[in-house]
Amino acid sequence: MRGALSSLRRMIDRPDPAPEPGSSPRAVAGSRPAAVIDVRQVTKTYALGDVAVHALRGVSLSVERGEYVAIIGASGSGKSTLMHIIGCLDLPTTGRYLLDGIDVAAMSEDELSDVRNRKIGFVFQSFNLIPRTSALQNVELPLVYGGIRSSAERLHRAQRALTMVGLGDRFDHQPNELSGGQQQRVAIARALVTNPSILLADEPTGALDSAATVELLDIFDRLHTSGRTVVLITHEADVAARAQRVVRLRDGRIVSDEPSLQGSGERRVTLTSEMSPV
Ligand SMILES: Nc1ncnc2c1ncn2[C@@H]1O[C@H](COP(=O)(O)OP(=O)(O)OP(=O)(O)O)[C@@H](O)[C@H]1O
Ligand SMILES: [Mg+2]
Repeated sequence: MRGALSSLRRMIDRPDPAPEPGSSPRAVAGSRPAAVIDVRQVTKTYALGDVAVHALRGVSLSVERGEYVAIIGASGSGKSTLMHIIGCLDLPTTGRYLLDGIDVAAMSEDELSDVRNRKIGFVFQSFNLIPRTSALQNVELPLVYGGIRSSAERLHRAQRALTMVGLGDRFDHQPNELSGGQQQRVAIARALVTNPSILLADEPTGALDSAATVELLDIFDRLHTSGRTVVLITHEADVAARAQRVVRLRDGRIVSDEPSLQGSGERRVTLTSEMSPV
């Protein structure tokens, strides 16, 4: 894994350059320029027959470029719902969500899928790999959707992403031929292959043992110190402690939002002074 991490260190130096804040004609005046994620008074209500389920009851959350944020809270508190909105997989019932200063509600379906494909990488609770399909093909998929026509380039990038997460010897394995930790690393490679500036992870370590958890958290640390914005949902206190900031949800509301005591906040200060801004 150490070799994989050093190759990750080399490969992830530069996420896609972020657009200048406010450079879009549709950038919303008055939005804080540094906030890459700006959720404003968002509610989400699901209708289940006659019953309305209030998954989010007025959430405001602003995340700056390059932050590493953990979202914690009990089961059913609205964490995944919030993540789906942040990742443009779902829209708020009320309230607004600005991504890089642009109101997501104003984006066309094409723009949304472009954002989902290039700007945001997802790692889901349940891996969401395609069964009976090799690790390599799973990782290539976002490049196919992203319109990379050259199969040689797709292959090269997918191989590189899998090597980055320590799976250089598992290209042809299908999901059911991989351990849980390896499947999650394939999912991370898939999330990184388009070189997104934002990584969203929903319980990425939920199904992993402690050794695999540490390996994954080391990968997230590197992604963070290379300038990516990382938002991670977890139930585990020691996982949350690796972030800079911990946001707690309860019953669809944010009940606390605090710097992490042990997290990478201090390390971040040291590292940012060494690194040119992304
Ligand atoms: N598609 C849906 N239709 C109806 N209700 C939903 C839907 N998705 C989520 N909910 C409800 O919204 C609430 C919040 O769900 P959410 O998945 O965001 O919780 P969570 O904090 O991620 O929980 P967990 O830790 O168990 O993953 C829950 O009460 C859930 O039952
Ligand atoms: Mg969830």
